[in-house]
Amino acid sequence: MAISPLVLFAIFALVYGNGVLPIEATHHVYRNLESVSSDTTNQPYRTAYHFQPPKNWINGPMRYKGLYHLFYQYNPKGAVWGNIVWAHSVSKDLVNWIPLDPAIYPSQPSDIKGCWSGSATMLPGGKPAILYTGIDPNNHQVQNLAIPKNMSDPFLREWVKSPKNPLMAPTIANNINSSSFRDPTTAWLGKDGYWRVLIGSKIDTKGLAILYKSKNFVNWVQAKQPLHSAEGTGMWECPDFYPVLNKSPLTIGLDTSVNGDDVRHVLKVSLDDTKHDHYLIGTYDSAMDIFIPDKGFQNSQSVLRYDYGKYYASKTIFDDGKNRRVLLGWVNESSSVADDVKKGWSGIHTIPRAIWLDKSGKQLVQWPVVEIESLRVDPVNWPTRVVKGGELLPVTGVTAAQADVEISFKVEKFEEAEILEQWVDPQILCGRKGAAAKGGLGPFGLLAFASQGLQEYTAVFFRIFRYQHKNLVLMCSDQSRSSLNKDNDMTSYGTFLDVDPAHESLPLRSLIDHSVVESFGGEGKACITARVYPTLAINDKALLYVFNNGTSEVKITRLSAWSMKKAKIN
Ligand SMILES: *[C@@H]1O[C@H](CO)[C@@H](O)[C@H](O)[C@H]1NC(C)=O
Ligand SMILES: *[C@@H]1O[C@H](CO)[C@@H](O)[C@H](O)[C@H]1NC(C)=O
Ligand SMILES: *[C@@H]1O[C@H](CO)[C@@H](O)[C@H](O)[C@H]1NC(C)=O
Ligand SMILES: *[C@@H]1O[C@H](CO)[C@@H](O)[C@H](O)[C@H]1NC(C)=O
Repeated sequence: MAISPLVLFAIFALVYGNGVLPIEATHHVYRNLESVSSDTTNQPYRTAYHFQPPKNWINGPMRYKGLYHLFYQYNPKGAVWGNIVWAHSVSKDLVNWIPLDPAIYPSQPSDIKGCWSGSATMLPGGKPAILYTGIDPNNHQVQNLAIPKNMSDPFLREWVKSPKNPLMAPTIANNINSSSFRDPTTAWLGKDGYWRVLIGSKIDTKGLAILYKSKNFVNWVQAKQPLHSAEGTGMWECPDFYPVLNKSPLTIGLDTSVNGDDVRHVLKVSLDDTKHDHYLIGTYDSAMDIFIPDKGFQNSQSVLRYDYGKYYASKTIFDDGKNRRVLLGWVNESSSVADDVKKGWSGIHTIPRAIWLDKSGKQLVQWPVVEIESLRVDPVNWPTRVVKGGELLPVTGVTAAQADVEISFKVEKFEEAEILEQWVDPQILCGRKGAAAKGGLGPFGLLAFASQGLQEYTAVFFRIFRYQHKNLVLMCSDQSRSSLNKDNDMTSYGTFLDVDPAHESLPLRSLIDHSVVESFGGEGKACITARVYPTLAINDKALLYVFNNGTSEVKITRLSAWSMKKAKIN
């Protein structure tokens, strides 16, 4: 059974009603949950600057009194399903994290079998409130409320639950399936004074975002219709619904309750059936309380994704400190379950990404938060140079297993671009035409985690096709040679990139961290995250190259690479 791993806390400052949140007084602290043993932390695949728990957990953020809070789903009983708690870490900079005791754990009938995912909302007066899914004694999914015990504590160590929990429950009357009713979003406040929240659900194979409304955050009433739904998409997990600014400066983030001119809305859902995070851009009709996407799920092939690699159950928060919207996602392992058990941990987070609307209005753009650049040391910069067809150029002077690389290509001659006769799913195309398949214009890009004799490498590259009289840019992350250990999932990932190479350069950034390669094409128009476990290219045995396996030459207009320091994580 899938559970939604991210628990998010958003920040916005509004009105917390006076005494409208009755709370439960008792609080027991679960100890014994942080069992870091040295053999789980001292391994070639442990990441150095990606958030990663000692073992078996996953999570999401919030900001309160200048601190970012990350709540992650954790099972204290390890392999046994159940008793999921909200573990908790805090950070000043989204880079270094301090562990705290779990924030929410089973203590009421409404969550006795687990505290699953949810979101935080900042109520008026700057008071946070968490809505989360609890599992009741009948294994029904219900929605609960918790608020901080001591608002003066910036660490928000203790949380108390409403005695009125559950606040939202499946009934025969409301026709909600009790095993498909989870992951409340951050709530938003309408002009009519009602709070609104979405809960992920499905009816048969129709995915839906059920809408609830409340005046006081305690008494919630289901709206007559969902905010949005789509046939054939299956269960919607971890919905996220937020406004983005549609005028310059586009990078400014908006509080979740903002609507009006110059605002578009984004609905993201994590599809349980495919394990992908898809998003739609559209208009939120606040009078009808419906979301009208510009392009819906009907043509599932073209529905956008945050990340075309290993990535799920993400959530955003509005960061009022830096006026940006920040996206955090969970990255699953690609190793076998047996290897995960051996490693003793599984799952990491991506580097938090700022997210905003592209100037085309047709898609979102993501970029690693600027704070991660504080870990950069020993820069390597190349002058402009040409890479001929078949050339392989080593990038020396960086710790290649723990690095941040930015490269930009410019293509001047397009004659040798391969012809694409008909549209092909880009992931399939990347599988067929990997780095080792010689081309015309590309593949060119980076080889990360390369071993000395190139028995292993993870290739991130572009390949330009001629399709319907236009240049079509394919971006791939090719894992097919990432490891000699064939127990790993080595699927190649890819997407088409909305960049016109005749007029624009082709920038690529990869964050490389021991077992993860997070890549950003076209300055964040396409993101691909890969988990890889090389056997030879580990630690100081890992090498980094620029390669061109096409016949046509391309120009490197920029290469900047840095070794990355280790972050302090838990
Ligand atoms: C609340 O938190 C503040 C700041 O950490 C602390 O000084 C105070 O003692 C706490 N109050 C209670 C009742 O725990
Ligand atoms: C409720 O959802 C569960 C889990 O997806 C499914 O097995 C079951 O058939 C559903 N029940 C109904 C009545 O749709
Ligand atoms: C996690 O990865 C495993 C192994 O690659 C895969 O079978 C599973 O479906 C993935 N789960 C999610 C939620 O992505
Ligand atoms: C380039 O293509 C050749 C021929 O297909 C292949 O043998 C070689 O491994 C490729 N290089 C890379 C870096 O994949």
